[in-house]
Amino acid sequence: MRNADELVVKGRTVLVRSDLNVPIQDGAVTDDGRIRASVPLIRSLVEQGAKVVVVAHLGRPKGRPDPAYSLAPVAQRLEQLLGRPVRLARDVVGPDARSSVKELREGGVVLLENVRFEAAETAKDDAERGAFADQLAAFADLYVDDAFGAVHRKHASVYDVAQRLEHAAGPLVVAEVEVLHRLEVDTERPYVVVLGGSKVSDKINVIEALLPKVDRLLIGGGMCFTFLKAQGHDVGSSLLEEGMLEQCRRLLGSGKIVLPVDVVAATAFSADAEHAVVDADRIPPDRMGLDIGPKSVELFATALAGARTVFWNGPMGVFELAPYAEGTRGVAEAVASLKGALTVVGGGDSAAAVRALGIGEDRFTHISTGGGASLEHLEGKTLPGLSVLED
Ligand code: 3PG
Repeated sequence: MRNADELVVKGRTVLVRSDLNVPIQDGAVTDDGRIRASVPLIRSLVEQGAKVVVVAHLGRPKGRPDPAYSLAPVAQRLEQLLGRPVRLARDVVGPDARSSVKELREGGVVLLENVRFEAAETAKDDAERGAFADQLAAFADLYVDDAFGAVHRKHASVYDVAQRLEHAAGPLVVAEVEVLHRLEVDTERPYVVVLGGSKVSDKINVIEALLPKVDRLLIGGGMCFTFLKAQGHDVGSSLLEEGMLEQCRRLLGSGKIVLPVDVVAATAFSADAEHAVVDADRIPPDRMGLDIGPKSVELFATALAGARTVFWNGPMGVFELAPYAEGTRGVAEAVASLKGALTVVGGGDSAAAVRALGIGEDRFTHISTGGGASLEHLEGKTLPGLSVLED
């Protein structure tokens, strides 16, 4: 992959694909990790005198403009972090985008409105995506992809546009790929992976791919209940994927999977619900597990002790609600306290949890900005947004 710093950008218009898909509540960004991670490339380009057109998505709007998914709060935060004006175009390739790009001066930044307001961005049909990519490409002389979190998507602004312009990988993409490579090749042992999150079905492929490579795989979050059930335990009204039981049973046969021994079980999915720590093999019928318990945190910390490489993806419980945050906090602390190990937090909710719980981002080797993208990379899949940059 060619690096962005190999491009001559002065006076040229650079189309930058960033992943600015951040959580927003009441019109304000609640976790700006991805915006901060996108700033170094944009800053470097403006300082070199490029005209920068940023293209990004937010959420999953239905292929038409929807104010609920406007990038306006993101533009505001980007402007603060960059310390320069960021003009938000009111459309993606429409009249406002065209005039905003035309009026760009050297060192100026335009952010196009949510690229998923255009149905062609995510179209399955190559020609439809291609026609839209032509319109995006017409804005610029060069294309730099720094949206690591979106490289697993075969979307127009990630894949097709790179085929139409001289292109390079941004520093975030390069850094993320380098770290993932260290998890995949000549990995230092013991190698321990911690997985959480709600659904086994979302993680099954990565579990299959990682099991032969790791020494231990610790499983918490909503997905642990399907594994506990597969072991024959009562899981009460906890999240359960009946269709995955057989696969879980087979995976448990590896002998490498470590499951919680206690959980915080509540009467409802709410911070005010009655809740208590119970044994993981005897969750009462009217209770649902919403976090791993203190004994499990201890068990997981022991399993992590001495690890030389750790990958952690997915919270251990509903950390957004205070009564169910301690499992995630405990495991995050255990990973952050490891000395001399390569510790990687796979993006999405686990990265947000590290920041929300105030664990200290600098206590990990790397916090990825890519949730699905890092998992698919670890699965060994070819990621369209990377392969298109490799040619
Ligand atoms: C993410 O949040 O993982 C990326 O921004 C990709 O978003 P998507 O899953 O909606 O394609």
